[in-house]
Amino acid sequence: MFQPSPWRSDFPAIAALQGQQQTYLDSAATAQKPQAMLDAWCHYYQHGAANVHRAQHLPGALATQAFESSREKVAHWLNAASPSQIIFTHGATSAFNLLAYGLAHTFAAGDEIVISALEHHANLLPWQQLAQRQGLKLVVLPLDADGSIDLAAAANLIGPRTRLLAVSQLSNVIGRWQPLPALLAMARAQGALSVVDGAQGVVHGRHDVQALGCDFYVFSSHKLYGPDGVGVLYGRSEALGRLRHWQFGGEMVHDADYHSASFQPAPLGFEAGTPAIAGVIGLGATLEYLGGLDHLAIEAHEAALHARLLRGLHDRDGIRLLGTPQLALASFVVDNVHNADLAHLLTEQGIAVRAGHHCAMPLLKTLGLGGAIRVSLGFYNDSDDLQRFFTALDKALELLR
Ligand SMILES: Cc1ncc(COP(=O)(O)O)c(C=O)c1O
Repeated sequence: MFQPSPWRSDFPAIAALQGQQQTYLDSAATAQKPQAMLDAWCHYYQHGAANVHRAQHLPGALATQAFESSREKVAHWLNAASPSQIIFTHGATSAFNLLAYGLAHTFAAGDEIVISALEHHANLLPWQQLAQRQGLKLVVLPLDADGSIDLAAAANLIGPRTRLLAVSQLSNVIGRWQPLPALLAMARAQGALSVVDGAQGVVHGRHDVQALGCDFYVFSSHKLYGPDGVGVLYGRSEALGRLRHWQFGGEMVHDADYHSASFQPAPLGFEAGTPAIAGVIGLGATLEYLGGLDHLAIEAHEAALHARLLRGLHDRDGIRLLGTPQLALASFVVDNVHNADLAHLLTEQGIAVRAGHHCAMPLLKTLGLGGAIRVSLGFYNDSDDLQRFFTALDKALELLR
């Protein structure tokens, strides 16, 4: 039975891609954008660009107002206690680097940073490099057979030397919610700071950072149907207060002379230089658009499409899933077929899926794999997209086997 997406026509790029005979199933890498975001983006440039937080003129005041209104919308989206807890960065990756530099002074040699085996490089390499620079120990939590962080192992590995826990909410490779409440409680019991990588999780459902109880929460706008070049770092006020400034320049300074300077607190103290003004305004418009949609309907649509995807993969011989995905995506390999060959044949048939290590090389190595194919869904996808994928997959496998 055909399952349409009622929101498909809100995303002009989907029709454009279809005109190019492309079926887009790579939303976990980056999502297509709603017209509401494109309108806000164009409006800003068409009605007068201006820098924020510094100009006294009218265009500057309007840009600053729109920029700060986006901060309020992000705070509201996450149920943060205050907009001042929202720092705009250039993406999730820069938010993690900000944290790894801004918190460096809180670690002493021998302290432990705990991550998990499924982390994206963005939530692995900044901590790994910090550990190397300062003689810290990086502890890696193992996974169970489904691809969830193993809580029994975590209970043994999160201990008195743990100073920070940094884990994903939803894996970009396995597509499983991670057991955050239990993990965050373990970190809290040890007095350790916690960082949640919400890059994938934020795209599905609404998450309340206060209820979650993490110290920091990170995501990228572009996966949440917003513009690229913008990331969000939420921090509890006490946790933000522990950050040291890390990038220096315009806008973040309080007072400066030639040989010394003092700096603003969060958020502006951590937004050195001209930010991605149009991008931040576009993210605000995206959240307004998303906020007006029926979330239960989206959840049901995504769940039904995901179930169809899993059923189709299960029904075909020799396909092995990575873990047990719960939503949003599925990564798989095919017995005796090289993923790069399969990816090539899918690409030739206009199927846009991701192939490779998915920026989680250590995880793929642990699984004994050189790469995998990942199909990921946005709420604009419909069952015809999946049908085209399966038709192309069958044809490719027929050729390769
Ligand atoms: C789980 C996860 N964390 C972090 C990132 C990094 O996001 P960005 O490249 O937007 O900085 C990604 C992007 O794929 C991701 O999937």
